Amino acid sequence: PTIHLKDYRPPEFLIDRVELRFELDAEVTRVEALLQMRRNPAATRGDGDLHLDGEQLELEHVAIDGRPLPPAEYRVESEALILHHVPDRFRLETRVRIHPMLNTALEGLYQSGTLLCTQCEAQGFRRITYFLDRPDVMACYTTTLVADKGRYPVLLANGNPAGTEDLGDGRHLARWEDPFPKPSYLFALVAGDLHEVADRFTTASGRDVALRLYVEPENHDKCDHAMRSLKKAMRWDEERYGREYDLDVYLIVAVGHFNMGAMENKGLNVFNAKYVLARPDTATDQDFLGIEGVIAHEYFHNWTGNRITCRDWFQLSLKEGFTVYRDQEFSADMGSRDVKRIADVRTLRARQFPEDAGPLAHPVRPESYIEINNFYTATVYEKGAELVRMQVLLLGPEVFRRATDLYFTRHDGAAVTIEDFVRCMEEASGRDLTQFMRWYSQAGTPELTVTDDWDAADGVYTLTFRQQTAPSANHPSLGPLHIPVAIGLLDGAGRDLPLRIAEDTAEPPSGTRVLELRREEATYRFVGLRARPVPSLLRGFSAPVRVRYDYSDDDLMFLMAHDSDGFNRWDAAQTLAQRLLLRLVAEPEAAVPEGFVAAFRRALTDHEADPALRAEVLKLPSEAHLGEQMAIVDVDGIHRAREGLKQAILAALRDEFRAAYEDHRDAGPYELTPAAIGRRALKNLALGYLMQDGDAEAVDLCTAQFEAGTNMTDVIAALGLLVDAGGAPAERALDTFYRRWSGDPLVLDKWFAVQAASKRPDALARVEALLGHEAFTLRNPNRLRSLVGVFCNLNPVRFHAADGAGYRFLGDRVLELDPLNPQMASRLLQALARWRCYDPDRQARMRAQLERILDAVELSKDVYEVASKTLGEK
Ligand code: ARG
Ligand code: ZN
Repeated sequence: PTIHLKDYRPPEFLIDRVELRFELDAEVTRVEALLQMRRNPAATRGDGDLHLDGEQLELEHVAIDGRPLPPAEYRVESEALILHHVPDRFRLETRVRIHPMLNTALEGLYQSGTLLCTQCEAQGFRRITYFLDRPDVMACYTTTLVADKGRYPVLLANGNPAGTEDLGDGRHLARWEDPFPKPSYLFALVAGDLHEVADRFTTASGRDVALRLYVEPENHDKCDHAMRSLKKAMRWDEERYGREYDLDVYLIVAVGHFNMGAMENKGLNVFNAKYVLARPDTATDQDFLGIEGVIAHEYFHNWTGNRITCRDWFQLSLKEGFTVYRDQEFSADMGSRDVKRIADVRTLRARQFPEDAGPLAHPVRPESYIEINNFYTATVYEKGAELVRMQVLLLGPEVFRRATDLYFTRHDGAAVTIEDFVRCMEEASGRDLTQFMRWYSQAGTPELTVTDDWDAADGVYTLTFRQQTAPSANHPSLGPLHIPVAIGLLDGAGRDLPLRIAEDTAEPPSGTRVLELRREEATYRFVGLRARPVPSLLRGFSAPVRVRYDYSDDDLMFLMAHDSDGFNRWDAAQTLAQRLLLRLVAEPEAAVPEGFVAAFRRALTDHEADPALRAEVLKLPSEAHLGEQMAIVDVDGIHRAREGLKQAILAALRDEFRAAYEDHRDAGPYELTPAAIGRRALKNLALGYLMQDGDAEAVDLCTAQFEAGTNMTDVIAALGLLVDAGGAPAERALDTFYRRWSGDPLVLDKWFAVQAASKRPDALARVEALLGHEAFTLRNPNRLRSLVGVFCNLNPVRFHAADGAGYRFLGDRVLELDPLNPQMASRLLQALARWRCYDPDRQARMRAQLERILDAVELSKDVYEVASKTLGEK
């Protein structure tokens, strides 16, 4: 059954108070719920029945105002408890049994290792107790946890601690009170034998907050970075948004089994251990940055998500888009802004653009869904963040801050919609954002075609923009969007020119000017110019669009060298490389132009420039990204062209790469500064090129780095390159690594991942063999992603092997996984979403797997929705 946004109705009942009591046990947990309920005055009256959500619950007891209900007064269905003719105000009491150990879906209450923990977003709370499991029902909760003292010495829930008791029979009890009304998806509890790392934070207004990180005891020495990140995030939110923390404690628990990254439960975040645990020898620079970003993301949710939440799940981007925008800006402030922006746009183009161009395309605010878990997507998260970013650009930072102040005061404690957010932007700025709102309902990536003209006689340069968003079967075009386009014009020396528009009287900005496109076509005339400028378009990636402008190679090299916008310097290099690579796919014999090599040489040897940015510039566009630019993806041609170009670059720049490698090695202790991260990135990029032709000297260098490396960034970079090169050095290194790290699950994930990503022709055979490895299990999402996910998503040339073996492998895994963990199965299946972009033979083989999956009996809603939509649409 499809759920539609247009069918939204306010809840018929409200819940004012919730008292929960858990008798925790891995096999059988009992949950008693006391709900103070009343009819919602704002709702229309239904049939008089009360429908409570509930799944996989065994009802033991149900009473209203203390009176046990006779069977005639209620009905239990597979996904509901229906109470007939309830009063307008009453106290509902239920008791159910649940089975955490059998919960492989990792939604609701489940076991991870020896811990018990919960995941309730989006609709997991209904697997814990009967409830109105929807975000617009907000209540204050108290939670009592009872458990065996030996196995579960630590008992945590939302809010502030409110006492413990020893029950004398080997069990103990802990009570928690959350004074803030919250929707059920923010409920959490954790029980287990956990090591505690404690710290403190004093908020701007002087509230003393106890910060605590809980990890499995063996991870006690991997918590410093997460704790530091949390304190930085708390300070940043005070300074940038005026937002303070509001409880006496802030708790974070790291668990080994988690479907996603982390969860912002009020006062008690539950995290995938991957986003908490780090030591220089176990985690890479990217892992460290990921932790900082996710810790901040979940913390920021306390205001954007928890204090102010979503009215319904169609509004998911209200909290996710805004919170991603906030964490992106936080990371930009903590590290290097240009590097962060490049990384974020890379992700957007690699994940969101394809999603928006395929059968699973949906607007940032979807209009319908079968399974909401399928909508935690790059579109809702990352494109949603871009929509907030555009509004910041339109309003300017000061006005945006006033708008968010208004949003936080006006809607505190409420469940609201995206309109409510945008209305605050409008009121604070006095601007009309009606047209801008289309961005939230329009699926697909807009295309911006730019043409220009130079009038030498009058010194007038004309830019014309045409926007178009291709309609798809389920998503018509809603008309032109309001697009902020930041541009600059460069003179012959590479300097920014003043951007004086003909009919404008005000003093023109000299660097960047933001044009606001509102019509399908718009023309701007820039006057007072002496020579034809080179345009720098969409600076900082000011809108999530594709730009088409016919740059010459020389223009691109010029921008690469001179653009004052760091993002666009990088983007020019990407466009240049992409263009050359696509030419090499079409004509494998074509020569690599001198100018291209020279531009790369300049970038590599430009000692003035930030090494991190140099590394970004020299990284060729991925095979997947190149495939996205072709009407029919030439899997093998792309691989050959890209490997060939790397080879050609190496042949021309071998000495420069050697020098870059040597110059950017660091002796001394590991540092996590942007500068040190940048040096490692450039050094390892250089090593990657040097390893391109399997040169024995390079293999020695790589082996030496692998053996002597004291940080995981260097060790795993070397291991990955050795594995790609193959042979005895690779096998030896894999063996060494396994023996060293087999006891550390997060590091072991990397061992699986480098093999799954291998360029070797036998990659699939290896991956299949690894399925049988004693350390492999489908039941741990991180392990699953590191082997199966990496192979299917990050190894295109092997996954898309012409014989269809990769597709069969994926089909097998999806069918095996679906009964265990539908969310993970459905994620995995999305690797086939772009099946129509391949040649007829591959299409047929992918379609066969999709059909095979759809034919399976007892498919989850998650997989059914993805498989049917993937097959069903042009
Ligand atoms: N709200 C969490 C976050 O973005 C993610 C929850 C994911 N839940 C899900 N059912 N997919 O921080
Ligand atoms: Zn989030």
